[in-house]
Amino acid sequence: MSKSQIKLYYKNVTAEVIGEETGISSVQLETLAEQTSPLIQKLNSERKAGQTPYRDLPYNQKIPQQVKTLAAELKGHCENLVVLGIGGSALGNIALQTALNPYMYNLDEKQRRGPRLFVFDNIDPPQLASFLDWIGGSLDKTIFNVISKSGRTAETAAQFLIVRKLLSDSLGPEGLQKQIVATTDPKQGTLRKIAAEAGFRCLEVPDGVGGRFSVLSAVGLFSAAMCGTDIDSLLAGAQDMDARVSNEDFHKNPAALNAAINYHFYNNGRKISVMMPYSFALKDLADWYRQLWAESLGKAKGLDGAELNIGPTVLRALGPTDQHSQMQLYREGPDDKLFTFLQVENFDTNLRTGPAPDNAPELGYLADTPLSNLLNSEKIATEYALLQDKRPCLTVLFDTVNAYTVGQFIYLYEVTTSFAGALFGIDTYNQPAVELGKEATFALMGKKGPYKKSLTYEEFASQIRSLTEVDPAFLA
Ligand code: PA5
Repeated sequence: MSKSQIKLYYKNVTAEVIGEETGISSVQLETLAEQTSPLIQKLNSERKAGQTPYRDLPYNQKIPQQVKTLAAELKGHCENLVVLGIGGSALGNIALQTALNPYMYNLDEKQRRGPRLFVFDNIDPPQLASFLDWIGGSLDKTIFNVISKSGRTAETAAQFLIVRKLLSDSLGPEGLQKQIVATTDPKQGTLRKIAAEAGFRCLEVPDGVGGRFSVLSAVGLFSAAMCGTDIDSLLAGAQDMDARVSNEDFHKNPAALNAAINYHFYNNGRKISVMMPYSFALKDLADWYRQLWAESLGKAKGLDGAELNIGPTVLRALGPTDQHSQMQLYREGPDDKLFTFLQVENFDTNLRTGPAPDNAPELGYLADTPLSNLLNSEKIATEYALLQDKRPCLTVLFDTVNAYTVGQFIYLYEVTTSFAGALFGIDTYNQPAVELGKEATFALMGKKGPYKKSLTYEEFASQIRSLTEVDPAFLA
């Protein structure tokens, strides 16, 4: 497997390319270097002190071993793997599957190196009902991987309750025990308690690793290993990137540079960050990044308690599809965006166009050429057009997409997020706004007992209802 390194290309955010008014001048880059360099040391020290355990996942020996042992045990008689999870407990699994397995993986047995994979990160009844109807006849060949770090997320718990009943009714208690793998906190939480009593096979989300930073733990590794991904390569790629993002030289540290550039443009009116892969395989990594940034950087308060209400809004686009959907807005709409393209040099499968028909010589420019030429020319053309409008563009260059380069990408963006959080002066690792929504759901669903010191769930539910009840006077 290639040991190539992904690269961050940042010339097209500089004043040299897009002009002094918009672009980063060399003086500004030096100011950013001065501001960010102490943070490189700070993050390295925090990591050494064990305060950011996600940083050590690529070196964890125990987790990949447990994952591989379990995958080897289950793979032979598993035709379908169903992940039940949401947010950080699902997006990494989806991203790895899209990046590292063929497009028709689930449908074409020839293209599969493991079970079909389905990830349910929603509780839409018709969607899940349709799926369960389809899978009903092969429950004994289906593994349900329930993933919840906290073990109490309502969506995942509800899915679990449906599947638990279905398995018990169809296969009895033994079948239930055999077909479920629970991935959760090593010691605490509702799912851990249920799993221990029911005797489910279990995998762990290590202490201190938050959902959106957990893809390189058993959360993402198990489904990847089951579906044929070389998880050692994925982790080796992350280790490779670790050396680069720990470098105390700002100019050689792609995560520090990436974060500083994003921070600069955010502070200069570009509050929107568009990630636009020119590779279908990388599309869901952009979705994973969207969550990573939104939950990590969207914060009301700074570490000092000051009111900030900050955080870049991330949009995911796909090239060239969105050239025909979003590009008009990107070029001529508000100048409030920083673009990050993901570009792939070599695709592991390519296609050639055929000759142009005699009566359509105007298609000659497209004839007898690798399809990737058109794809990458469109990326360059789009970037060129944006640069004409002085819109800043970064590119992450992949020589090729494989487990090693995807491992690098994941680690690069995780550490970029830590740098960005440190620059913004916020707590990168909490998500208080998400927690309130979770608690409100519990209350509305009828949870009883104390919620907070002076508030029960019942009282909380009536507070919510009085604010959100539909007022017919406003129905148009
Ligand atoms: O990143 C996060 O912390 C969240 O997106 C969680 O992953 C998500 O809310 C699901 O939580 P849990 O894994 O506890 O069910």
